[in-house]
Amino acid sequence: MSLSTTAADAPVPAAGGYTATAKALHWTVAVLVIGLIAVGIGREFMPKGPEKDFVTMLHKATGIVVLVIMLARLAYRIGHRPPPPEPGQPGWKTGLSHAVHWSLYLIVIVMPILGWFGSNALGRPVSMYGLFNLPTLIGENKELGETIYDVHGLLGFTALGLIVLHVGAALHHHFVARDAVLKRMT
Ligand code: HEM
Ligand code: HEM
Repeated sequence: MSLSTTAADAPVPAAGGYTATAKALHWTVAVLVIGLIAVGIGREFMPKGPEKDFVTMLHKATGIVVLVIMLARLAYRIGHRPPPPEPGQPGWKTGLSHAVHWSLYLIVIVMPILGWFGSNALGRPVSMYGLFNLPTLIGENKELGETIYDVHGLLGFTALGLIVLHVGAALHHHFVARDAVLKRMT
C-alpha cells in the first residue's frame, strides 16, 4: 500500500486492510451487539411470562459471549496495529474515529459486566443458555441492581447513537468520499 500520495480522493488498495482475524471479530461482534440492542429494547414491550424470560435469558447469555469475544479482541488489538488512516484525511476525522472506536470497545465491555452485576444485585440468575449459571459476584441489593440497569440502559442508547454515527461514517467513506475505508474492513 502506498502512503506517499496525499490526494484526498486517491484510492488505497484493499490489500492494506485489517487482518482476517480483525475482520471476523469486528463483524461477529457487530451482528451480536446490534441484535442485543434490538432484543434489549424489544423485550421491554413483551408481556411478563415464560417467553419474555426466555428472551431475557438469551439476551444475558449472548451478552456474556460478547464479553468473552471482546476481551479476546482487545488483547488481539493491543498486539496488532490497525491500518493507518486514509492518506490526506484531516486530523479531526482521524481523532473522532479513534474516539468512537475506543468508546465502542469500552461500552461493549462494560455493558455485559454491568448486566452480570445487575442480575446478581437483583438476585436473578445469569444462565448460559440453560446449561449452567454464572457465579454470583456481588450480593443482593435491589436498589443497586436497579441503578445498575438504569446505567446499562443508558449505555445501550449511547452505543446505539455511536453505532449510527459509525455506520454513517463508513457509508459516507464508501459512497461519497469513495475511498477504501469500508473495503479494508470487508
Ligand atoms: C454487549 C452486551 C449487551 C448489550 C449491548 C445490551 C443491551 C441492552 C439494551 C439496549 C437494553 C434495553 C435497555 C432499556 O430499554 O432501557 C438491555 C436491557 C437488559 N439487559 Fe442488556 N445488553 C448486553 C448485555 C447484557 C448482559 C450480559 C446481561 C445480564 C447478564 C444483560 C441483562 C439485561 C437485562 C436484565 C435488561 C432489562 C433491564 C430492565 O428491564 O431494566 N444485558 N440490554
Ligand atoms: C453494521 C455496520 C458496520 C459497518 C459498516 C462498520 C464498518 C467499520 C469500518 C469500515 C471500520 C474500519 C474503520 C477504519 O479503518 O478507520 C470499522 C471499525 C470498527 N468498528 Fe465497525 N462497522 C459496523 C458495525 C459496528 C458495530 C455494531 C460496532 C460495535 C460493536 C463496531 C465497532 C467497531 C470498532 C471498535 C472498530 C475499530 C476496530 C479497530 O481498529 O480495532 N462496528 N467498522
